[in-house]
Amino acid sequence: MEKGKPKDSVGIIGQGAYLPPKILTNADLEKMVDTTDEWIMTRTGIKERRIAADNVATSDMAVEAAKEALKEAKMKPEDLELIIVATITPDMQFPSTACIVQRKLNAPKATCFDVSAACSGFIFAMVTGEQFIKAGTFKNALIVGAEKMSSITDWQDRSTCVLFGDGAGACVLTKSDSKVILASYLGSNGWEADLLKLPAGGSAMPASHKTIDERLHYAKMSGSEVFKSAVRVMAEAANKVVEKCGLKCSDINCLIPHQANIRILLSVAKRMGLSEDRLYLNVEKYGNMSSASTAIAFYEAAKKGRLKKNDIVVLDAFGSGFVWGACAIKW
Ligand code: UT7
Repeated sequence: MEKGKPKDSVGIIGQGAYLPPKILTNADLEKMVDTTDEWIMTRTGIKERRIAADNVATSDMAVEAAKEALKEAKMKPEDLELIIVATITPDMQFPSTACIVQRKLNAPKATCFDVSAACSGFIFAMVTGEQFIKAGTFKNALIVGAEKMSSITDWQDRSTCVLFGDGAGACVLTKSDSKVILASYLGSNGWEADLLKLPAGGSAMPASHKTIDERLHYAKMSGSEVFKSAVRVMAEAANKVVEKCGLKCSDINCLIPHQANIRILLSVAKRMGLSEDRLYLNVEKYGNMSSASTAIAFYEAAKKGRLKKNDIVVLDAFGSGFVWGACAIKW
């Protein structure tokens, strides 16, 4: 066993991503709500985002990302033993989007379920898959972060509609000696649940004419409160995960954060004493795609050659719940 890698380590053997072709620019948003490209760029760093077509569901994007990840892993869907989809925009309340992905991919042997951990969902799903493989329950796992955020975005609310986008990212995990997961750190704080939520459509407030009239089926956020917690908690989570590996922040070669807002990400790096060139950023092109953001940024960083052999890579996310997670990988 190579030094620094856990026994029976679980590694990433394939990655994939899907982004819908339709681009919604800040100039387009200027025509929809009272906003400006200048406000959006300076407050968020977002220039444009992708929007899925009406007839494209979260599972469709998940399947495209999964196919690419399976191809790289040189695996057939028939060989998959576990599918976990992280999403807050499932195709429907039930069945799970993972079961729909199973059918569309044709992966009959797989056990399938969804994980609901908002923007931290991809990391929660990855760590869950890793545990099942380590325990010997399953030999491999397809992990997907997929979101059609445009389906829960209030296109009349300028404080949220400029932020979100659609997409999916995936990876395949199995026991491996390369690109291994070194450690993870997850946490939650349910007391802050009201700061970022979709109020209606669940058992607490079932859909009614009133909830629709009051636009309660759309994401609501207290932006500045979420902002402050995100900076503090993401920096802390990344610190804790490297500490668990016996490493320091300065050992991180690439920090891949959930892409919520450029100001949050730069503040996290500053708090960690990490130079900007160690951060992977793509928020400008895609906005906040919740669970898909970390997955796609991870995919892009790998495909663009930003991750070199033996690099210490840290995925780091924060989202509604609040929930947060960081995952350290030796590339
Ligand atoms: O995915 C994980 C969770 N999500 C996040 O991490 C996002 C966290 N929050 C944020 O990214 C930021 O808080 C926002 C980008 C959402 C907002 O930025 P902010 O600097 O916190 O602005 P603010 O909410 O304090 O609003 C400042 C002003 C307000 O006007 P007044 O009250 O000062 O007159 C807003 O009405 O900006 C106004 N405003 C806008 N103006 C133009 C809000 N949205 C817009 C807009 N265009 N789109």
